[in-house]
Amino acid sequence: MRTSGFSSRHRGRESGGGDRYPPDDPRSGGGPIGKPMGEPPGLVPWGAGGLRGISVGEKHPGVPPMTGRGPADPLRCLALLLASLLASVMTASTTSSQTPVADAQHFFPKADLMKIGVYYYPEQWPAGEWERDLGKIAELGFEFTHLGEFAWGFLEPSDGKFDFAWLDRAIDLAAKNGLKVILCTPTPCPPAWMGEKYPEIYLVASDGRRREHGTRANVSLANDVFLKYTRRIVTELARRYGRDPRVWGWQLDNEPSAPADYSPSARQKFQAWLERKYGTMEKMNAAWGGNFWSTKYDSFAQVLIPNDSLTGEDTLSPHALLDFRRFTADTQADYLHLQRDFLREHILPEQWVTTNYINVTDTADPRRTDRLDFVSFTMYPVRGEKNLGELGFRLGSPYRLAFAVDYYRSFKGVTGVMELQPGQVNWAPINPQPQPGVVRMWLWHAFAGGLSFACTYRFRQPLYGSELYHAGIVGPDGVTPSRGGLEFARVIAEMKELRKLYDPAAKMAERVAARRTAFLWSHEVMWDLDIHKQTALWDTWDHRFKMMAAVKAAGAPLDYIGEDDDFSAYPFLVAPAYQLVDEALVHKWTRYAEGGGHLVLTCRTGQKTKSGQLPETPWAGLVAPLIGAEVELFDNLLDDGRGLVRMKGKGYTWNRWADVLKPLPGTETLAVYVDQFYAGKPAVVTRKLGRGTVTYIGVDTIEGGLERDVLREVYARAGVGAENYPPGVYVEWRDGFFVGVNYSSRPFAVPVKPGAKVVLGSNPLRPADVLIWREY
Ligand code: GAL
Repeated sequence: MRTSGFSSRHRGRESGGGDRYPPDDPRSGGGPIGKPMGEPPGLVPWGAGGLRGISVGEKHPGVPPMTGRGPADPLRCLALLLASLLASVMTASTTSSQTPVADAQHFFPKADLMKIGVYYYPEQWPAGEWERDLGKIAELGFEFTHLGEFAWGFLEPSDGKFDFAWLDRAIDLAAKNGLKVILCTPTPCPPAWMGEKYPEIYLVASDGRRREHGTRANVSLANDVFLKYTRRIVTELARRYGRDPRVWGWQLDNEPSAPADYSPSARQKFQAWLERKYGTMEKMNAAWGGNFWSTKYDSFAQVLIPNDSLTGEDTLSPHALLDFRRFTADTQADYLHLQRDFLREHILPEQWVTTNYINVTDTADPRRTDRLDFVSFTMYPVRGEKNLGELGFRLGSPYRLAFAVDYYRSFKGVTGVMELQPGQVNWAPINPQPQPGVVRMWLWHAFAGGLSFACTYRFRQPLYGSELYHAGIVGPDGVTPSRGGLEFARVIAEMKELRKLYDPAAKMAERVAARRTAFLWSHEVMWDLDIHKQTALWDTWDHRFKMMAAVKAAGAPLDYIGEDDDFSAYPFLVAPAYQLVDEALVHKWTRYAEGGGHLVLTCRTGQKTKSGQLPETPWAGLVAPLIGAEVELFDNLLDDGRGLVRMKGKGYTWNRWADVLKPLPGTETLAVYVDQFYAGKPAVVTRKLGRGTVTYIGVDTIEGGLERDVLREVYARAGVGAENYPPGVYVEWRDGFFVGVNYSSRPFAVPVKPGAKVVLGSNPLRPADVLIWREY
């Protein structure tokens, strides 16, 4: 098996999907061999950052305590009473960790629900057309526009000479048409003159080749010359527009993706990062397993950046690879924080600062940019993949948006989608038309997920450049709305109507609040799983998406949290394949369950320490006492292999990962393996712990059906009801509105409470459609 280095501008994946950019696409890395790399003149201060915990926001502030539905039998009553007490305690204990929610929310009045806008690139069009274009944007109902992205060559046409006249005019025209403006820092695209003078600003890919001018996101974020130029352009922009009330907020860079950088600048910074982290060679060698194959180092200066030739079958230390990923993510986060700090020196407090992460970001870690006001994301659901059912290739991934809304909102309680696909894209291997109606459904799904704004890339379909097949809100003639454009306009009109029904006093239904669930998320755990998969079939995103889908199928509100957050704010906590643990985390999980929480762990959890080493215990010995079972062995089947697991008479197949369990006294078996040499042994176990429970799902099933059924069992045993939505159907509650969307290829009759009032759409809910109702 081959473990590879990670690609730059990795667009994110999901089951069956690939990198967004094919290997021969310039954006995926590589480039012609360029000039020799010199040493950077004129250093600017550049501190390395580290992990910073952030507090999780709350999607639904003011959630009432759990009470459940009027039960008949006394035991259920008791369970509900306990659950209710627990929830009150949990709600109370959350309040202090919610401060950032209020902070970020003040940028977006709740009564606006979700604002909708569109990208415009004035520099790509004749100046004589700007007035018409911005007028048309307003005429279609858009409420804001997005300017300046990638325009460094226009803002600073030669070294130190700035030209803002064109941007001034574009902002004037936007304002004249009632459009707020999001301004961008243009840093993914340094002008040609900069690369000519300082070729060392470019990133070096894993094959040793340097990127060059002519594309974007081609720079080394570790290079001090580039940082110096970044500081200057960002500061100039901040000085000019930072006190301009027409500017609503700022987007830093574009889709920051923490590209792996093998340049001399990155190598020096990596060595310094290691020295800060470990202090001595002994400590680093111990963490990297330097006694294995004599791989130990005598000095930090000897350490190379682990390139492709060092990541073959006889792989470089996986612990070194894990550190390189940490370093790269830190470098990206530091770069964004640096830009944020330059802006904040000059801009109005009312202007917000964000960046737009790729929806499933493998390499950049949004948790590391906790000093931004909030984080946003980009979203392209239709990308030449099969997805659910025969219409799936036109409806889009059923997971990406469902995941992103919750994940990005969880950081500060506020998020927006900065780019939402308006129609066909140009960059997937195959680019089908989205299903009529589905652009509208995505917008409503974004709304359902609590988003404060949705923006689309881009207003006009380009006439030249690498994205000329990319749909816009208007077609190549610049005036005729595309189908997606009309769907945007329709939702904008609908949103304006919905605002009239906004009720600030609306509270989430108690039965829904009772199942609030947290998903423990760590990029470091994901990196370690991916560095050392053990089976090529292992897919961390797919595994996590399955668990997400299991929670969503039950109709549970979901937040994504980190290890530093308050677990007790949630009655249910899911930590899938949480491989890297330490005693503190196991202790925190234990206290959570003892205090009444319901903890669900899945296969691979707790099998390694935080540096990715095995503890000197029986396999998974760190978590065995918590889960009430030993992990006797684990197994992987071949690609076409199918193992069978049974729970309550129902069968489920697997082939990726199976932890074979040996329950300790007091632990109940929920599902067993039916075949292989361990037939009859447990695959899923559960136990009571203090006032709560711990459930361990030891197997990753192909369809995720077992995971869904186990989750339903956990909710049921905890005395809270669970819905049973089919795959691809999501129902969310937001600001008094229930919103249902359907990514499946079949209509679904949504169980709407009798007496509820439908305000948009019709039931049964058709594929690519939306249903909105209120319960009062
Ligand atoms: C995004 C990117 C945009 C544009 C778009 C095309 O990933 O941020 O700049 O390239 O893809 O779909």
